[in-house]
Amino acid sequence: MFRRFATALAASAGLVALATGAASAQDSGQSVEVLHWWTAGSEAAALNVLKQNLEKEGVTWKDMPVAGGAGTEAMTVLRARVTSGNAPTAVQLLGFDVTDWAKQGVLANLDPVAEEEKWGEVIPEALQSFAKYDGHWIAAPVNIHSTNWIWINKAAFDKAGGKQPTNWDEFIALLDKMKEQGITPLAYGGQAWQDTTVFENVVLSTGGPDFYKKAILDLDSEALGSDTMKTVFERMTQLRGYVDDNFSGRDWNLATAKVIDGSAGLQIMGDWAKGEFRNADKKAGEDFVCFRFPGTQGDVTFNSDMFAMFDQKSNVEAQRKLASAIEDPSFQIAFNKVKGSVPARTDIPADEFDPCGQKGMKDVKEASANGTLMGSLAHGYAAPAGVKNAFFDVVTAEFNGQYDASEAVEQLVNAVEGAK
Ligand code: GAL
Repeated sequence: MFRRFATALAASAGLVALATGAASAQDSGQSVEVLHWWTAGSEAAALNVLKQNLEKEGVTWKDMPVAGGAGTEAMTVLRARVTSGNAPTAVQLLGFDVTDWAKQGVLANLDPVAEEEKWGEVIPEALQSFAKYDGHWIAAPVNIHSTNWIWINKAAFDKAGGKQPTNWDEFIALLDKMKEQGITPLAYGGQAWQDTTVFENVVLSTGGPDFYKKAILDLDSEALGSDTMKTVFERMTQLRGYVDDNFSGRDWNLATAKVIDGSAGLQIMGDWAKGEFRNADKKAGEDFVCFRFPGTQGDVTFNSDMFAMFDQKSNVEAQRKLASAIEDPSFQIAFNKVKGSVPARTDIPADEFDPCGQKGMKDVKEASANGTLMGSLAHGYAAPAGVKNAFFDVVTAEFNGQYDASEAVEQLVNAVEGAK
């Protein structure tokens, strides 16, 4: 009898505790509505870490997911929301999109948190130039991703000889060996941002970092119209020969799933793909292998997910809590391990990360010291949206056989010129 009573008491005490917890979140009256495009399994799991941390601070999380890799669809929804006077509290943004919203004067100033927590001392310069506008912090960077990676099924790799390709010819030889195994050599999702993610890898590998800088960062018409760029498009066509028939429109995580289940050999994708391996309980070095896209070791094409806040007088406290939670060092470790990215802070130890994460951290550091840490085109860190979309159109049209390599080069020069 006493036992039953004690259990009931404990249970109701638990309920009371739960209810109090819920009430304190409500009592604070603080909530954030967060617009983002993290809908893949690993992405949602990573975001959940932030959501839970914030709820511990008494801030209620209102989720506003808009599916679509690289945020293309999310950006359309965001524009519609802002235009109708209903901006979300916070939004996931990339590079030039942060700057564009900042220019319109609609973003909240995060200086009070950034100064108190000394973000300036730990967030790399390359990120600060997007997270700050006019000398003020307007976004909180949550991670550093990079796009020049290959994710490969370990069994298929071993069967193909297990030698990491370091140049184009070796890469093609590896894809051929995977074809002989009867699997799809290249796991591929035919969406403009994915085509362009692959394209930027091929640009960097074919022309090297100086060419990448001229063509992609400086948008130099000579580089865009060069024979090197023609070779890049020829190589894109070559890659087309290694994808399956159903690639068109496929989401990136479904392509990753093919590498995970062994029906495809490898994927050229940013390190968010690693999140999907981890989410499927696969281990780096055992089930899958990561290396830099052949010919790009030493260089890093990066993108960083940032959260910007829309200026809302009633939500200032909750927004500051969100910004602070994002830069919290232990959160940076917990989140980035799940997401596949590396921390946005330079003072985070690497030991809790898997071998790919540790390599990612080391590579970013080295590339940054050597001047070869360069913005990703497909993920908004090389050029504003208009120019990026001009690349998307030509790259996708060429990959799908609408242009040959010479026509693509000509179209690219004109399209980029027109969009600048
Ligand atoms: C990138 C973003 C990543 C990941 C990926 C796929 O642009 O930075 O965090 O979400 O898109 O959607």
